[in-house]
Amino acid sequence: MESLKRTKIKALLASEPGAEVLAKGWVRTKRGNKQVKFIALNDGSTINNIQVVANTELFDEELIKRITTGASLSVRGTLVSSLGSGQAVEIQASAIEVLGECDPMRFPLQKKDTTLEYLRSVAHMRLRTNTFGAVLRIRHAMAFAIHKFFNEKGFVYLHTPLITESDAEGAGDMFQVTTMDLKNIPLDKKGNVDFSKDFFGKKTSLTVSGQLEGELGATAVGEIYTFGPTFRAENSNTPRHLAEFWMIEPEMAFYDLSDNMALAEEFVKYLVQYALDNCMDDLQFLNNKYDDGLIERMRSVLGIAFQKVTYTEAVEILEKAVADGVKFEYPVHWGTDFQSEHERYLVEKHFQKPVILIDFPKDIKAFYMKQNEDGRTVRGMDVLFPKIGEIIGGSEREASLEKLEARIDELGMSRKNLEWYIDTRRFGSVPHSGFGLGFERLLLFVTGMANIRDVIPFPRTPKNAEF
Ligand code: 4AD
Ligand code: MG
Repeated sequence: MESLKRTKIKALLASEPGAEVLAKGWVRTKRGNKQVKFIALNDGSTINNIQVVANTELFDEELIKRITTGASLSVRGTLVSSLGSGQAVEIQASAIEVLGECDPMRFPLQKKDTTLEYLRSVAHMRLRTNTFGAVLRIRHAMAFAIHKFFNEKGFVYLHTPLITESDAEGAGDMFQVTTMDLKNIPLDKKGNVDFSKDFFGKKTSLTVSGQLEGELGATAVGEIYTFGPTFRAENSNTPRHLAEFWMIEPEMAFYDLSDNMALAEEFVKYLVQYALDNCMDDLQFLNNKYDDGLIERMRSVLGIAFQKVTYTEAVEILEKAVADGVKFEYPVHWGTDFQSEHERYLVEKHFQKPVILIDFPKDIKAFYMKQNEDGRTVRGMDVLFPKIGEIIGGSEREASLEKLEARIDELGMSRKNLEWYIDTRRFGSVPHSGFGLGFERLLLFVTGMANIRDVIPFPRTPKNAEF
């Protein structure tokens, strides 16, 4: 089989018939009769399989037997017009080599209709399914589009550290990083853990956000974005939370909250449009299999302006809904953080379009948000999407040294550990803003998958770090 170069199945399916070709991939199905076998071959380059037609006279029975679901093949043959429906071309095989056999009794993906829940238990193999092939290709396309978007705007991709000593969001749900022997932890004279003996000489954790370092970058080169893994040890077993997720955090000098909202809206619309333009085969597949409203919903967010509404107005809307008989699991009144049910009510029922909530009570938001004149709200913004709720969280940042320090003190946070951050306000402070897009939340929206564990190859959730 040498000398002929392998062509990927995506390219083969778009080729004119006639050529001698070499394809490699994994068997999805084999069917047929005594004279002829039809093998659906997939190599991951597209959701679509190429049909390999094997005339049994040309191949010995032993070889045909070894061609089972999951086996890997190298197939040489002629690309011919297909008589069957569903594909323009197929391969009339002249030579088939089984590269790797796949024992049908043990292969975890034998059953045709495996549930997503079952597939999570075989996450190392689920990548071989059509569903995860589609998700992985869309995930890749979105990652590429994110870099493309910011590159075209002249943003600098900033790499922020994963190991940090600061809890940017102040939620206290960090994973500690240590090389100390947990059976023999060094203590100081007062009996507290002596972190000076630890690897970094201080208490460190995995980052919950690259924002604080992002602000250092933005106040140096103007506009930056981060795109990296983020870790939160919140014990929320929900379909929208991961312990390890990816976040994109743009941070822009000289942007106020309006500029920030405009960028966020342009950004997500660009990504949704990119998926529609470049991933249609996969979207169609997911639309048909899991969520028949997917493509429609994606299109629906493109043509309209997102609804801007203050937190206070939103509370009034929700309180009115409750008075009118709408039932929420969690109560809502001024000062509470919205639950996903409240967010979805605003987006899906009340406004029927994506919503940007602004001006939150300061007590439910992080220390760095710009304080409003009213003394009780801050210039935060959350972008809420249908079926998901919060997809983006961001704010204009407090640029005043005095106000920032006062807020840090008020919250009982350590100024000492944040001196490096506060320096941005001491030396050439500027108005600036930024936001964080949860990559997997975006992927929920552009794949139609209902559970965040199904849009990341190897999910990390409470009690689950397998594979
Ligand atoms: O709203 P969050 O906590 O905002 C920040 O971290 C800011 N530092 C962002 C910034 O202004 N630069 O998180 C941002 C987004 C959320 O809107 C959500 O989409 C996602 O990150 N997110 C999660 N995604 C999956 N699993 C979790 N546990 C998540 N927590 C937040
Ligand atoms: Mg948030």
